[in-house]
Amino acid sequence: MRGAARLGRPGRSCLPGARGLRAPPPPPLLLLLALLPLLPAPGAAAAPAPRPPELQSASAGPSVSLYLSEDEVRRLIGLDAELYYVRNDLISHYALSFSLLVPSETNFLHFTWHAKSKVEYKLGFQVDNVLAMDMPQVNISVQGEVPRTLSVFRVELSCTGKVDSEVMILMQLNLTVNSSKNFTVLNFKRRKMCYKKLEEVKTSALDKNTSRTIYQASEIQVTMMLTESCKLRGLHHRNLLPITHVCIEEGEKPMVILPYMNWGNLKLFLRQCKLVEANNPQAISQQDLVHMAIQIACGMSYLARREVIHKDLAARNCVIDDTLQVKITDNALSRDLFPMDYHCLGDNENRPVRWMALESLVNNEFSSASDVWAFGVTLWELMTLGQTPYVDIDPFEMAAYLKDGYRIAQPINCPDELFAVMACCWALDPEERPKFQQLVQCLTEFHAALGAYV
Ligand SMILES: *[C@@H]1O[C@H](CO)[C@@H](O)[C@H](O)[C@H]1NC(C)=O
Ligand SMILES: *[C@@H]1O[C@H](CO)[C@@H](O)[C@H](O)[C@H]1NC(C)=O
Ligand SMILES: *[C@@H]1O[C@H](CO)[C@@H](O)[C@H](O)[C@H]1NC(C)=O
Ligand SMILES: *[C@@H]1O[C@H](CO)[C@@H](O)[C@H](O)[C@H]1NC(C)=O
Ligand SMILES: *[C@@H]1O[C@H](CO)[C@@H](O)[C@H](O)[C@H]1NC(C)=O
Repeated sequence: MRGAARLGRPGRSCLPGARGLRAPPPPPLLLLLALLPLLPAPGAAAAPAPRPPELQSASAGPSVSLYLSEDEVRRLIGLDAELYYVRNDLISHYALSFSLLVPSETNFLHFTWHAKSKVEYKLGFQVDNVLAMDMPQVNISVQGEVPRTLSVFRVELSCTGKVDSEVMILMQLNLTVNSSKNFTVLNFKRRKMCYKKLEEVKTSALDKNTSRTIYQASEIQVTMMLTESCKLRGLHHRNLLPITHVCIEEGEKPMVILPYMNWGNLKLFLRQCKLVEANNPQAISQQDLVHMAIQIACGMSYLARREVIHKDLAARNCVIDDTLQVKITDNALSRDLFPMDYHCLGDNENRPVRWMALESLVNNEFSSASDVWAFGVTLWELMTLGQTPYVDIDPFEMAAYLKDGYRIAQPINCPDELFAVMACCWALDPEERPKFQQLVQCLTEFHAALGAYV
């Protein structure tokens, strides 16, 4: 098996994140913005975007504008800003390049548009999982003329409620000026998590009991924050941040959409702590690190209950703010930020090999139990302040190494109790691994105990 993998080893790196309609890697400026946890005021971060050639200069053209109104942006992203896709014929490829996450409970999108002279349009949709989502419906005809007065059209994105799935939606708008000339194709990408319909009462009862269990388990030290963080909040969770959007808009009035501006990448944060630790050993306490682990486990527990498998849990896919609140993301950027954490084993797919359970590596089997394995590795990353796991092992040897029973060593200064938690996560048999809810409980107890000793 391993020999075969070796033979197929490609000489070049894999295609980055070649998954469906995922947004292309953003330009370096965006990466930079995503990396800087604490930026100055939004206005200061704005940079002029290169002018796209597509539609002709603002004065001569039909003055097409298409944007999300301030109300709409506030509703979708929680910021006070307009988001222009086309402003006076100038297309913002930045804005179009992001595959915007639609909150699960949001079924309608509103686009505002108009043109000064005749522009014909054709509107079409693609949905990558028709089992999970109905074909989007619009309240305008799919073909016609762009209105001459400021108008709004509505797109309805309804989940079927039959399966859990992340659905990629592509809205395509073809604009034609003066018959066949000046033809422009605009692609709008959206992502939405669709869930199987749950029995609400049952879920909330279970949830209440779970919170109470945690409370009893930890006796004293459980803060409101911890219990709260395990409650369902609509279909969102405080420890989940599905994607980081960074949209920059050009124009006289600079517009920046940095909804999660004060969130920094957890792996970079840990490495920063390590640098600081040399001079200041108290920079970050073990209790802080355990608290981060609890938050991650809470977010994962929420996902597991919805039978959502993350498949790439790692410190690099979490973000943290200056109050040490952690959120899990599914960040398409991490493959660009940490290419060394991904390897392709003889095929063209980039995999986070050092975070993967044996059954995922060998049989491509993923489950909440394989997410638990990755959680163990993430816990190890926390305790080592962002070291690379299995750093000496060739990615191609990982499966054999794990099969032989080897695991990452106990980090220096990592208490036995915590290492025991990690080790449980790395049980060969997925059934033997703890559930996220159990991890939340035992880490919470450990967190409380640390508080008692200090
Ligand atoms: C838009 O134009 C492209 C390229 O000609 C075509 O493939 C696509 O079907 C068109 N989309 C719609 C909605 O008409
Ligand atoms: C479509 O729906 C939006 C929002 O409900 C409304 O503002 C708009 O006028 C509607 N457009 C048409 C053409 O019916
Ligand atoms: C369309 O193009 C023709 C020839 O280029 C031009 O004479 C005409 O004025 C244009 N019509 C519009 C509405 O721009
Ligand atoms: C758009 O049409 C104008 C006038 O008809 C023409 O001068 C211009 O080259 C066209 N632009 C593109 C991108 O085709
Ligand atoms: C939650 O606790 C209540 C009261 O202790 C109990 O009646 C109920 O069955 C529990 N629900 C679940 C889902 O465990």
